Amino acid sequence: MNAAQLDKRYHALAARLQAENQKALGIEETMQLAYAYNQVKFNAEDTWRRSLYTESFGALTEANDKLTRKPLEMQDGWAIDRSLSLPYLSQMLEDADRIIAEQRGARTKKSARYRSYFQNIWKDKDATRFPSFLNFLTSSDMLAVICNYLQTIPALSTTLPPGIRFVESNAAFDDRPDVAKDSQLFHTDYYSKPNVYVLVLLADTTFEHGPWTFFPKSTSDRAKQELGYWKRGKGYRMSDEEVYSVVDRSELIEFSAPRGTVLFIDSSACMHYGSRNSVKPRFQLMLGYSGVCRTDFSEVIQKPNRYPLRSSDPLLRQLILDRYRRAPGQPSELDPQTLPPLMSVLDALVQPGELQAKPEPTWFQRLFRIR
Ligand SMILES: [Fe+2]
Repeated sequence: MNAAQLDKRYHALAARLQAENQKALGIEETMQLAYAYNQVKFNAEDTWRRSLYTESFGALTEANDKLTRKPLEMQDGWAIDRSLSLPYLSQMLEDADRIIAEQRGARTKKSARYRSYFQNIWKDKDATRFPSFLNFLTSSDMLAVICNYLQTIPALSTTLPPGIRFVESNAAFDDRPDVAKDSQLFHTDYYSKPNVYVLVLLADTTFEHGPWTFFPKSTSDRAKQELGYWKRGKGYRMSDEEVYSVVDRSELIEFSAPRGTVLFIDSSACMHYGSRNSVKPRFQLMLGYSGVCRTDFSEVIQKPNRYPLRSSDPLLRQLILDRYRRAPGQPSELDPQTLPPLMSVLDALVQPGELQAKPEPTWFQRLFRIR
């Protein structure tokens, strides 16, 4: 059996497991199961990318573009670059101004739609119209921070979240700006663990713009533990009251800073919310990098985005922009060792009616511990 046949066979199950933020089995168990599934599909690519990072990262960056500085280190799940001088940043900010001038204030979602206050105004054609964006997000200075944290060469996400989002947050598009909802409520992303989000402020941002706001990883871990967050039966979003009942509000970090400031953050480790009551429109670029073994089923059920690529591009850039690049010499058939135990768990879940009460998680936790 190959990967496409596996996806076809379990498409309906994946959609049910993924529905309503992985509600059926709970987030933690679904992440485990999804990781096992993705390991069966992409173990060779995961191993290849990890070994490229460990053994050849210096040569890969050298062939990409030269490092201009010592990389920042993400500590406790995050780091902020306030230099305003990362490669391609100033050109990208100029190009961003053009996109903003063309699109700002135009409401694209109907009222009462999910996350109406948050609009992604990026269009696929912008990647070729404005090369500064891809140049920025694949530059060696950026990738050194990200790869050092992830200990692998990741790829730009092609499903959830979209790898590139150019977001206008605006309270004018919010039917109830006084009531926090959806991503305005505390949560931790489950799509891919670990991951790195890169947030670039495209305009000066203050409290009135509804800044992205988070707890460092250690504080988030504590809150998660105390609240049983990600366990079955627990919702994906949490109220302020719930979170502040176990951790101190003073540990919260608000990403308010001048235009061009860059936040690197593991959104699967740091509890966060954003876009609360953006009485002044907030413009932010959001880039999503993840390993090739994700912790969700989005790639089974969604058509992936593609990013423009040239065969002459350096390997490092190709790996970031081509999530499906195969490891050298890989057979197309899936691994006969790991496939049967995975299928036995999935088949037990594919019963008429409701999902079975509880799969037996121990075998895949042993086989596929999330790294
Ligand atoms: Fe999030």
